[in-house]
Amino acid sequence: MCGIVGYIGERQATEVCLAGLKRLEYRGYDSAGIAVVQDDGTLEVTKVVGKLANLAQALEEQPVDGTLGVGHTRWATHGKPSKINSHPHTSNDGRIALVHNGIIENYAELRDQLTEEGFEFVSETDTEVIVHLVDKYYDGDLAEAFRMAARDLEGAFAVGIVCADNPDQMVAARRFSPLVVGIGEGENFIASDMGAVREWTDQVYVIDDDEMAVITRDSIELTDLEGNPVEREPYTIPWPADAAQKGGHKHFMHKEIHEQPRAMRECLLGRLSDPEKSINLEGLNMSEQEIQSLRKVVFTACGTAYHAGLVGRFLMEKLARIPSEADLAAELRARDPVVLDGTLAIVVSQSGETADTLVALRELKEKGAKVVSVVNVVDSSIARESDGVVYIQAGPEIGVASTKAYTLQILTIALIVAHFADVRGAASEHELIELRRAMLKLPEQAQELLEREEDVKRVAEKYYESPNALYLGRGVNLPSAMEGALKLKEISYIHAEGYSAGEMKHGPIALVEPNLFTVAIAVKGDVYDKMIGNIQEIKARSGPVIGVAFDGDTEIPRQADDVLWVPECPELVSPVTTAIPLQLLSYHIADMLGREIDQPRNLAKTVTVE
Ligand code: G6P
Repeated sequence: MCGIVGYIGERQATEVCLAGLKRLEYRGYDSAGIAVVQDDGTLEVTKVVGKLANLAQALEEQPVDGTLGVGHTRWATHGKPSKINSHPHTSNDGRIALVHNGIIENYAELRDQLTEEGFEFVSETDTEVIVHLVDKYYDGDLAEAFRMAARDLEGAFAVGIVCADNPDQMVAARRFSPLVVGIGEGENFIASDMGAVREWTDQVYVIDDDEMAVITRDSIELTDLEGNPVEREPYTIPWPADAAQKGGHKHFMHKEIHEQPRAMRECLLGRLSDPEKSINLEGLNMSEQEIQSLRKVVFTACGTAYHAGLVGRFLMEKLARIPSEADLAAELRARDPVVLDGTLAIVVSQSGETADTLVALRELKEKGAKVVSVVNVVDSSIARESDGVVYIQAGPEIGVASTKAYTLQILTIALIVAHFADVRGAASEHELIELRRAMLKLPEQAQELLEREEDVKRVAEKYYESPNALYLGRGVNLPSAMEGALKLKEISYIHAEGYSAGEMKHGPIALVEPNLFTVAIAVKGDVYDKMIGNIQEIKARSGPVIGVAFDGDTEIPRQADDVLWVPECPELVSPVTTAIPLQLLSYHIADMLGREIDQPRNLAKTVTVE
């Protein structure tokens, strides 16, 4: 789950690698390092514990000159965060340096073998076996040495390798972990994702599993791991170079919350423009006949994307009338799921690289399910391994806590559901028109919600010192409660639980007391009356309540201590709007507590380990 960057060209490698790593810090940030082939033909490695700022400082104190280098930002899997365990790892003679993202599953066995052969291990990492293997096979040709090493490796890797003997070459390879090669003029780059190289180029090669690249200043040679040439068209990165900057916001999370109206518009563009007309979903790759013959839909995902999947399950069953379930990707394989004929798997992922989600996708596909993914990062592994992909078109999401990707995942899933309901005749023309009209209104409503930020901030001020929080919802807004609680706990470290309001009396109600605040999502709709009952149960036990209600509601202000208002919309699309004040509430609480909002402790944005 680490991030890797490599550079070969005319500029100082440390500068390029540091800037690239900065963009990848979301992948992990417990330690970092850089190896540079210096102009005098020696290899210099700089490593630090902690964030990139520490690496930048170390390089300032002891500058390293050279135009070829590889860098790494780490999220520990094997071995604690320490200088010794951080990357790059080097061969015993200090001439080969390697950065790695992934996990080598047979590392223990390889380590024993290599130790017996006389290689000396200094770290506790799985990665170190790769560099010693490359060294073992190295005979003047770095690429060939890696090819041979790859035959011994089991598990996942994206690697960047440099060797002091050859100041004009960098080798990169991938199996399972993401990797791109950035194409420049007189310079080239490697990185774990496109965002890391976008500052210098918009042209990249997306490397596939079991492929590698041999890169000089003026050439990029792509082959498979057997050495057979691979033909690939360059991919043009669709967003501008400054898209990954904070743009005046204090945090990326804040910027991304505010990008939602525009991102929603872009997500709808070309797909839905007129409520009277059908939805057009290029990329879905399903014929009408296939949609009609569906017998089951399985959503699978992790984290926030899983909550979007839970909303999807609700909508799919309620509107398209297809039996549906939602599974945590990390749990799916354990029970050896039964996949019936006519099953569609909808795989939801912002990054498109989450290892558990990718494994679940492969399992479902192997068992015969058709796979459509709802993904943000174009050409990511999940997108490429799916039969169809509907991109959420949210643009880069850098803040570790997912915000705009969540609402756009729900919107994209709602588009798919509405399309299915249309094709299957599961909803009346009137219902479909109302639903499409409601979806078209969401960008404007999201904008209105952002304009109410000061109101949310006032509520945050009242509650930010509470040690505990409970988020309650029902029906289509139960996932909203779960997501609201997740947002709060991940960035503020306040203990928060998202719970079914109906289940509350079977346990969580025991926690209610004046120091625990409850957020109750009580928008008008099928479960409104029941939510009011639940709010009363909390109030009767002296628990403060923040209600989330539609504009104009007169009952909720009477019951709750505070209200977060949202513009009225059909209940079925309300998870998109109710999410926004809850994102802002978590953001402001965390900010008031002085938390590191874009990089909360122990978390990483893209989890590429199972
Ligand atoms: C990590 C992130 C979450 C994200 C989850 C799934 O835990 O911190 O924000 O929801 O991974 O990631 P994905 O990229 O698959 O949506």
